[in-house]
Amino acid sequence: MTKHDDNMARAFDRLYHDSRFDWPAYARAYEKSCRDPSGYYARSAEAIVSALKLEPRANVLDLACGTGVATRKLLEQYPEMRVTGIDLSEASLEHYKTAFVARIERRQVHVLQGNAEKLDSFVKGPFNVIVCASALWNFKWQKTLKNIQEHLTPGGSFAFNVPALYLGEDGGILEVIENAFHKYTNRTDLGLPRLSRSTIENALKTENLRVDCAIPYTFNLGKDQVESFLEVLSYRTPLIFFPTEKGINEAKIASEQVLDGILNTTPETGHFEHGLVFIVKRI
Ligand SMILES: C[S@@+](CC[C@H](N)C(=O)[O-])C[C@H]1O[C@@H](n2cnc3c(N)ncnc32)[C@H](O)[C@@H]1O
Repeated sequence: MTKHDDNMARAFDRLYHDSRFDWPAYARAYEKSCRDPSGYYARSAEAIVSALKLEPRANVLDLACGTGVATRKLLEQYPEMRVTGIDLSEASLEHYKTAFVARIERRQVHVLQGNAEKLDSFVKGPFNVIVCASALWNFKWQKTLKNIQEHLTPGGSFAFNVPALYLGEDGGILEVIENAFHKYTNRTDLGLPRLSRSTIENALKTENLRVDCAIPYTFNLGKDQVESFLEVLSYRTPLIFFPTEKGINEAKIASEQVLDGILNTTPETGHFEHGLVFIVKRI
């Protein structure tokens, strides 16, 4: 693990397990951003769903489902699919439950609160597909692979996306954001995650999982979508980029200044985002 990876792992531990993280406000901003089909998370989830070819009644696990953007995309395409959504965040799951209330009542959709790293303690498989949209790096993903493998039917797929910046490539909007924080803080050791393609492939291989294909995606975010994405990030960036040297209020103020600067310098055409969707098979 490089120093950057190490700092990053700690930043994300801080983030989702930090008592100062404002889950209810974050979940509201997140859901608002996800409701826009042109928003960052809707477009990322769409990239995964369009890379999959599923049976109409497939049984799917939406791992770290958040407020449900990937589940929504899946059900738009496969209205009879069975879905189990799991997430650490109760506040996010409240939005998920509201979105799928009718399907939950008729037991087509199930919702479980829990830690992805301890999947076997609360989820019963097997699933034809496990989807993890915009979330793999939010937990100790290597630790989950054994459970993911065990929760897939033979020949089942694990599908997830990784932004280009995280793969060490030209990073689109995330690179713009990271650069702005680096410039402000003068610290390049704190930043967004990195998980190289070879690290991913080797970790998968150890658990009898094989990359079937890696499909590039790209989308443009207009200025409104950039704004709502930055609003979501505003709950995380104080803890990622200003972890120790300032109190949380000072961290929030400094973070707001950086985010305002990014929005003010965003061209009318917005920003691009790129990444890869990995479709992984159980060997
Ligand atoms: C960026 S959001 C992605 C949510 C959703 N998949 C989407 O595409 O919008 C990351 C999600 O990971 C969840 N998460 C973080 N750590 C987790 C863990 N250890 N177990 C389960 N979910 C976790 C968060 O609660 C959050 O909902």
